Amino acid sequence: MAIALITGASSGIGEEFARQLAPAYDLVLVARNTARLGQLRKELSAAYGTRVEVLGADVSSKAGRAPVLARLTARDEPVSLFVNCAGMGYATGASRNPVDDEMYMLEVNATAKIHFSLTAVQAMLARGSGSIINVSSVCGIAPAWVDSLYGTSTAAVLRHTEEMAYSRALRNSDVRIMALCPGDVLTDFNNRAGIPNRTDWGWVDVSVLVRVALADLRKGKTVSIPSARYKLLSFLIRTLPNSWSRLYGFDLGQQHPGIPGPES
Ligand SMILES: NC(=O)c1ccc[n+]([C@@H]2O[C@H](COP(=O)([O-])OP(=O)(O)OC[C@H]3O[C@@H](n4cnc5c(N)ncnc54)[C@H](OP(=O)(O)O)[C@@H]3O)[C@@H](O)[C@H]2O)c1
Repeated sequence: MAIALITGASSGIGEEFARQLAPAYDLVLVARNTARLGQLRKELSAAYGTRVEVLGADVSSKAGRAPVLARLTARDEPVSLFVNCAGMGYATGASRNPVDDEMYMLEVNATAKIHFSLTAVQAMLARGSGSIINVSSVCGIAPAWVDSLYGTSTAAVLRHTEEMAYSRALRNSDVRIMALCPGDVLTDFNNRAGIPNRTDWGWVDVSVLVRVALADLRKGKTVSIPSARYKLLSFLIRTLPNSWSRLYGFDLGQQHPGIPGPES
């Protein structure tokens, strides 16, 4: 059975990838909360007979990423699908948050994701095949509309993914890479960031999001933006000049909740 490795599998989008991939893949699930990953392992093994490996890791430091990097480059039982999903955010703006907290977000959302992605690209090129889904955000497509390094970090992941996808090395290979750019998805993300969950038009169901992402990967897309309304929004924000951001840019809240701990 092919193997899929998923970071951020203890919650939200990563957990849903685990559920949808479980019938067809053996899984390596990565997060800090290994108790939650253990529960998911029990559930998925019982439902589909899936072989699930739990890998506890904090991706915010190079040392914490080491076991994941080792698993991505292992030659026996190689990873054929990598879902690069672990991430976090803040409800408050970069102009007021402690700089160290902002650097932490950059480490988790950009440095770790690109470290994993580039490592997986090279390992898959050496083997001749494999697929990568890098989870970015519609914020990574948008011009500068929020006072935050969240947009900076997701834009870096999107840019890296496109650069790899269009490289001669990947175009001449059976290695696929795709950026997934969700809009608002109802997961624990907002609660953990301290962002109020608005029940407005914007929510995309997490199971629909993941189904569309996997279909887009099969179609060979480089950027997946599930849902028509976020496709339209992305088209508009890509088309408008960056200076228009001043008209619709917004400030985040004032009360910085600090770095979110492991999913509880
Ligand atoms: N939800 C949205 O509206 C939305 C929109 C656009 C993009 N995204 C992106 O989608 C990705 C997943 O978000 P989500 O909505 O599924 O959020 P979530 O429900 O809060 O899940 C976040 C996952 O990341 C893991 N994680 C966070 N910090 C980590 C660390 N330092 N080390 C290891 N794992 C860590 C968490 O596991 P532990 O706490 O157990 O470590 C958890 O499994 C993120 O990259 C986010 O930027 C989300």
